[in-house]
Amino acid sequence: MKKLFLYIMTATLLLSGCNSNQDKQTQNDMNNEVIETIMARRSIRAYKPQAVEREIMNQIVKCGINAPNGMNAQPWEVRIVDNPEFIDGCTKIFVERMKQDPRGAKMVEDPSFKNMFRNAPTVVFIAIGDSRFAQIDCGLMAQNMMLAAKSLGIGSIALGSPVDFFKSEEAAEYYNKLEFPENYTLALVLGFGYPDESPDAKPRDESKIRWIE
Ligand SMILES: Cc1cc2nc3c(=O)[nH]c(=O)nc-3n(C[C@H](O)[C@H](O)[C@H](O)COP(=O)(O)O)c2cc1C
Repeated sequence: MKKLFLYIMTATLLLSGCNSNQDKQTQNDMNNEVIETIMARRSIRAYKPQAVEREIMNQIVKCGINAPNGMNAQPWEVRIVDNPEFIDGCTKIFVERMKQDPRGAKMVEDPSFKNMFRNAPTVVFIAIGDSRFAQIDCGLMAQNMMLAAKSLGIGSIALGSPVDFFKSEEAAEYYNKLEFPENYTLALVLGFGYPDESPDAKPRDESKIRWIE
């Protein structure tokens, strides 16, 4: 009887050990590089001065255009700018505009302010054409680029605020330099560069996720 009891106890312990090993295995499987990259990405607003190497940017943007997109319409046009004359030139006009309201003035007079793209030295402009899912496609493309960048040690930020500015008359000179086709409209701007900060994750509200039975 004692032997039987010992046998059952040993078997139970072995089985529970097996389960926890399985749990650990599952956890390890779910902690792959892609998931780590997604969870570690943050918007970066402080960058080292050097632009991202063009070869690396080409790879990042290729990851962008490999995003899923409605009916494979690829309704986007992408422009990459790392020319400081372009970045500083449009920033100069932006600064004048910002100085006209107190909140804007505070932003551009901050000693950490380097340029209007949240200080990023490399900028990607995405314009979209007239396609049913173009805005969604643009978002998916942008996230592919930002995750690819993160996986290569490069920081990024999505920027909605420069969009209206670039469509304004004041910025026309710079908008025209982007040479978007006439029926395309600027939808999103992305900044890239080597990070000079490592901000904490902003809280996410997990109650937004529900299983429905
Ligand atoms: C469509 C879009 C537009 C954004 N526009 C701006 C912007 O104009 N300026 C800015 O500082 N951040 C901008 N962000 C970054 C968000 O503030 C940021 O993603 C959000 O606070 C979550 O923080 P995280 O990216 O670090 O996780 C934008 C993000 C998205 C997706």
